[in-house]
Amino acid sequence: MAANMKQRIGIIGCGTMGSAIVSGLLGSRMSRSRLISVFDSVRAKSQILSQKFGVKVTRSNSQLVQEADVIVLAVKPQDLKWLGPEVRRSFKKGAVVISILAGTPLRALRQFLGTRPVLVRAMPNLGAQVGESVTALTGSHRRSLAVAEKIFSGCGKVVYVPERQFDLVTALSGSGPAYFFLLMELLVHIGVRGGLAKTTARLLAVQTALGAAKLAQASSVEPGELRRRVTSKKGTTEAALRYLERKKFPKMFSEAIARAVRRSRQLSEASRSFLRCSNASS
Ligand SMILES: NC(=O)c1ccc[n+]([C@@H]2O[C@H](COP(=O)([O-])OP(=O)(O)OC[C@H]3O[C@@H](n4cnc5c(N)ncnc54)[C@H](OP(=O)(O)O)[C@@H]3O)[C@@H](O)[C@H]2O)c1
Repeated sequence: MAANMKQRIGIIGCGTMGSAIVSGLLGSRMSRSRLISVFDSVRAKSQILSQKFGVKVTRSNSQLVQEADVIVLAVKPQDLKWLGPEVRRSFKKGAVVISILAGTPLRALRQFLGTRPVLVRAMPNLGAQVGESVTALTGSHRRSLAVAEKIFSGCGKVVYVPERQFDLVTALSGSGPAYFFLLMELLVHIGVRGGLAKTTARLLAVQTALGAAKLAQASSVEPGELRRRVTSKKGTTEAALRYLERKKFPKMFSEAIARAVRRSRQLSEASRSFLRCSNASS
């Protein structure tokens, strides 16, 4: 296992992702509770983390930033405009800020956070809650990327992707757990409608998804080939897959992802326009 991190880590925002990152950092022993500080504008959320993991709750974002070597931003993108002015003068020299904000380019982060911190952009997913996220990273400072890689390898796997592909990654893996949840939800629903007990239908759906994921992970064979191998001629699987093909499911699914990419671009564009407006009025 990689060596424990020695840096002081601050997490701003203790919602779904902020909490998952704290849990991943400690669960993987990548960091220790005495090195982690958290702050959330809803005090109860940071206190829950403190009680569960023994991490420190700071009085404010600016105190957190003054003390931390590495800061993970885990607030909603729209909250950055309040957060920026609060923290931009408080960063330590050489501080690394890792942002997981969807649709918020490095350029926008720089504008909001000022010139002091080194910036890394990351796109994890909900799998971080169970140490099974996949996180895309981008940035231009190699040592800071290595720091981010350590943090997110505590939450799952890490890949490096150029920033221009972040909208695509956001649509594929950032939003990805929801697509698989939808499939499981439908399987459960169909099972229950056919007379299965809900707990049985749920077990069938979830365990099947887990088995398929583990098989794909363990194998060097492409998912398409794995699918062909379990689809025997004139069998049940073929009957279902042919119907999906006929109804243009692959095309429909590609279109759905294209819409998620477009939405991510719109969010990036919105943060750019916000910057243009703030620059014009200052
Ligand atoms: N959830 C995902 O699956 C996922 C995946 C990849 C990336 N992301 C990104 O991760 C970020 C966080 O998402 P999330 O789902 O964890 O959101 P969340 O559950 O809403 O957590 C964000 C937390 O930050 C708090 N907050 C807002 N402004 C703050 C401030 N100025 N200082 C300190 N705390 C503040 C929020 O409080 P209030 O509730 O009062 O606003 C909330 O408790 C988002 O930018 C999202 O784009 C999420």
